Amino acid sequence: MNFICSQCGKTTDSATMACHCECGGLFSLPQDHLPLWDKSLIDQKVWSLFRYHAFMNLDADEWKSVSMGEGMTPIVPFNEDVLFKMDFMMPTLSFKDRGAAALVSHMKAIGVKKCVQDSSGNAGVAVAAYCARCGIECEIYVPEGTSPNKISMIEGFGAKAVVVPGSRDHCADVCRSKVEEEGAYYANHVYNPYFYEGTKSYIYETFEQLGRLPENIFIELGNGTLFIGAVLAVEHLLRSKAIDKAPNLIAVQSENCAPFMETVEQNADHIVSVDVKPTLAEGIAIGKPARGAEVLEMIRKHSIRVVTAPEAQILECRRQMAAKGFYVEHTTAAALAAYYRYQELYGPTHDALISLCGAGLKSEH
Ligand SMILES: Cc1ncc(COP(=O)(O)O)c(C=O)c1O
Ligand SMILES: [Zn+2]
Repeated sequence: MNFICSQCGKTTDSATMACHCECGGLFSLPQDHLPLWDKSLIDQKVWSLFRYHAFMNLDADEWKSVSMGEGMTPIVPFNEDVLFKMDFMMPTLSFKDRGAAALVSHMKAIGVKKCVQDSSGNAGVAVAAYCARCGIECEIYVPEGTSPNKISMIEGFGAKAVVVPGSRDHCADVCRSKVEEEGAYYANHVYNPYFYEGTKSYIYETFEQLGRLPENIFIELGNGTLFIGAVLAVEHLLRSKAIDKAPNLIAVQSENCAPFMETVEQNADHIVSVDVKPTLAEGIAIGKPARGAEVLEMIRKHSIRVVTAPEAQILECRRQMAAKGFYVEHTTAAALAAYYRYQELYGPTHDALISLCGAGLKSEH
């Protein structure tokens, strides 16, 4: 399998230990060679997201020893218009297990012994867990202020947690300097395209469970790991003629950190730089998204609307969700706040799907 550079188009063997192309561009994995969607290719014997292995770029059967049954999360109605996909029902309690299971399977296949990763918390927890399962040593950089429970989980899995003073973006810079200086394997959910092979399953699962895709699919957008996976899967279903039109994908940002929203509003060619103010939605507090150009291209290609979650509504939404039995982290409650905001802007929004991306116990602070 070869990576393709998203900047210069050069190919590199995906067994590489490098995290980007020589030109600095980030790697992608080809999609067009994968078989078209066909229900008979779903592996009914597999009770995890790897039941879609026919549609994923994977290294042979390595995933079989790595998987912890991630995915297959229920879809539960919140009210008559909104469905929740219970993505906190995962081994490490967030949707990041979708990507981490695929990424760490690849790392195991190519013989990675040690890795570093930076994260707002959830991706770090997920990578730490799967690395523990595979005996890969792991060091996770998190920004100061990260929920203590996420740090405890990282350490619980035997990984080293390095708390970096300053913003989430600064934390990524510090970790990337270490990667460049020391040549450590960068098990990063944004850089490494194997992560998206896992997050594609969010859409495949929904399609298999409901027999259709909901009309409006709200996706939290920080760096875009769920977003990119979802768009790749929707494009695949369209190419396969399994659906005749794309659902209305809606990208959710925090009003205190909204680079994509600003860029779209200004109709700018490149991601504009934004002031990042503190937000309860720590999972989407990304001011400098590393795949910004790629995500922006997807937003424009599919006319995807971006909506921001009003900060002042997050706690109230969390309370409302808990009052109906859904105990989620603040970043997840932000998605419901963004759904209400979307209705204010565009009118009643029926048949909506929201990802319950993280569990409530993870953001007790
Ligand atoms: C709970 C939660 N939701 C959403 C996201 C956003 O994911 P991404 O930054 O890949 O868009 C994150 C990222 O850490 C998260 O932890
Ligand atoms: Zn390149």
